[in-house]
Amino acid sequence: MSNRLTTQSNVWITGASSGIGESITRALIRGGHNLVITGRRAGPLEQIQSLAPERVALAAADTTNKEHLQSIAPVLESHGNLNVAILNAGTCEYLDIADYSSDVIEKNLQTNVIGTARCVEIALPALRRTRAKGLPATLVIVGSSAWWFPFARAEGYGASKAALAYFAQSLRADLAGEGIDVVLVSPGFVKTPLTERNDFPMPFLVTAADAAERIISGLAKGHTEIAFPKRFTWILKCLNTLPQPLIDRMAASMARKSSNEQEPKE
Ligand SMILES: NC(=O)c1ccc[n+]([C@@H]2O[C@H](COP(=O)([O-])OP(=O)(O)OC[C@H]3O[C@@H](n4cnc5c(N)ncnc54)[C@H](OP(=O)(O)O)[C@@H]3O)[C@@H](O)[C@H]2O)c1
Repeated sequence: MSNRLTTQSNVWITGASSGIGESITRALIRGGHNLVITGRRAGPLEQIQSLAPERVALAAADTTNKEHLQSIAPVLESHGNLNVAILNAGTCEYLDIADYSSDVIEKNLQTNVIGTARCVEIALPALRRTRAKGLPATLVIVGSSAWWFPFARAEGYGASKAALAYFAQSLRADLAGEGIDVVLVSPGFVKTPLTERNDFPMPFLVTAADAAERIISGLAKGHTEIAFPKRFTWILKCLNTLPQPLIDRMAASMARKSSNEQEPKE
């Protein structure tokens, strides 16, 4: 299906209160679309809603909480045929290997995997109603390209995004027969509140507005895999083709370098 977002569409987006989600939301509002916007913090969502109150419905929720999400189902139903659900809410918690804690792994998996899976439970019936009327319906899952290489401290984040990629591609197979597109978005580094606290170099960093532009344009072109920036994702893809022992040596050397940089200087 390639006619996504080319006419006025109804879109549900999670993680709309900051970063990539906020930029996508603002761009879709400018494009004249109708939105249901989700995040935990009502304040930033209200500010965004005030840009076009007649076209933007606020549905604050913690996406890991099934009860919160249940309250969104009627909002989606009353907002018209859901054409696109963009499941973007996510977190990134790094592991300190000297102080290993499975809580870090759990937090990443809970928000990024379980939260997204719970949102699919709400989005799917709405997308199916849309398809039943012969209209296009698309489920978008925001993953990451971070898991394509074993980066230091990213055990929890990378594992959650690897799981999401499998989840999205497997859903794509299952939903193909129903004509529901599943799109996987795999960004490189994007300048957002999430990456502001990163204390390491972020090659090929793009702005959130740039990321939003690439995602919306990829959707409009009918792509099912949207990965950017290309220079970064190609490098990761090439590295991935190397023999595993070589990848392991590179990853260990990068981990050593990063931990040396973090050690306090006497
Ligand atoms: N920035 C990057 O370099 C980068 C790269 C690859 C992939 N990504 C992915 O892109 C997505 C957006 O990231 P970002 O960089 O834009 O981060 P961000 O600025 O921190 O935004 C994260 C968004 O997710 C929402 N969120 C987090 N946990 C939530 C929860 N439990 N329930 C509801 N909403 C929740 C936040 O809203 P509230 O705080 O209001 O709840 C916020 O709107 C994430 O999935 C991230 O993994 C980012």
